[in-house]
Amino acid sequence: MRVAWLLALPAVLSVTSAAVLDRRNADFYSVRTKMHQDLSGRLGDPKEKYFRIRLTLGTDESVFHPHYDGRFASEQLAYLERKQALSNLIQTYLATFADIGVETWLMHGTLLGWWWNRKVLPWDSDSDVQVSEESMKYLASFYNMTIFHYKTPRIPEGRDYMLEINPHYINREQTDNLNVIDARWIDTASGLFIDITTARYNYTHPAGKGILSCKDGHEYRDTYVFPLRDTFFEGVPAKIPYAYKEILEAEYQSKALVQTEFEGHKFDQEKSEWIPVLKKTKPYVPLQVARPGLAPINQQSATGASETLDTKPSTQQTSKSAEAVAIDATTVTKNEQMEQTIKALQQRNVQRSQTGES
Ligand SMILES: *[C@@H]1O[C@H](CO)[C@@H](O)[C@H](O)[C@H]1NC(C)=O
Ligand SMILES: *[C@@H]1O[C@H](CO)[C@@H](O)[C@H](O)[C@H]1NC(C)=O
Repeated sequence: MRVAWLLALPAVLSVTSAAVLDRRNADFYSVRTKMHQDLSGRLGDPKEKYFRIRLTLGTDESVFHPHYDGRFASEQLAYLERKQALSNLIQTYLATFADIGVETWLMHGTLLGWWWNRKVLPWDSDSDVQVSEESMKYLASFYNMTIFHYKTPRIPEGRDYMLEINPHYINREQTDNLNVIDARWIDTASGLFIDITTARYNYTHPAGKGILSCKDGHEYRDTYVFPLRDTFFEGVPAKIPYAYKEILEAEYQSKALVQTEFEGHKFDQEKSEWIPVLKKTKPYVPLQVARPGLAPINQQSATGASETLDTKPSTQQTSKSAEAVAIDATTVTKNEQMEQTIKALQQRNVQRSQTGES
């Protein structure tokens, strides 16, 4: 059922196994790695939607998240794990497509991630790529349900990735909004996947010849997409549309190409990384607690006594402890005073804004 796959990217991924490519039609249950309670009879998607949830309830691919394939996973990955899994996903996808000679290019959020630092946006949970209509036909004819096994320095234990083609890919019209995704590259360990859509020439477009349409409604003039540009993404060779900047601006507005704060992340120019912004927490105020039996440090140095955890406190130590409690009490009073002042100021501001004062 598996195809051991050769990676020709020595700099990034090491070659661990090579075998002839053997096309297989893996059936659904043989590729499922994690059992999930089958509740499809209760709610269920319309049967007409191919990439629907097939094992879980709800209207999307899995009960827990629409960007995980419920056949292979039952829980979301943590932030860093997901970032890593998405990186592995696109690396193996790009390497596979380069090897089988199918041209593919980055689009949507994945292209935006490329714009910033040639990496997947850390807040994304999927990736988007496109292929031509001829390529999709070729994939459907020869590679549907093919499993590619990868061993890389990052995944020494190996991992299976599956290419699945939606049988509705043959419908080139925008008539079936349940089947706008033509294919998927699926990480069978995590359930994360890449959506592969087809850019088809639109022979009836009012703007005339040369318009590419996608089933999700996106339209591009072909001279914006072709000739594709060669680049790198997540460290592996990749292709992007010729007029990538215009395409990004059209989809996300020019602000998205310069704004360095987004989705709880801040772009660190030096590191060239999106760094999660930590939520502000109250500054830590250590509370001085008198510990019976433990002499305060100044007391020790004065008497030359070593630090002991004597359970029986000396009179001196007790008096010191009392002092510490006293300091504590003042701190509390000060804090209370501060709080009262802040409250008073806040009230005044409220009154001011109500009376129109500035
Ligand atoms: C791919 O294989 C699956 C499983 O056998 C099947 O349901 C689907 O229709 C196939 N897709 C195409 C394009 O033939
Ligand atoms: C061609 O473009 C028109 C106008 O946008 C659209 O309504 C139609 O669905 C498109 N055809 C295809 C095959 O995508």
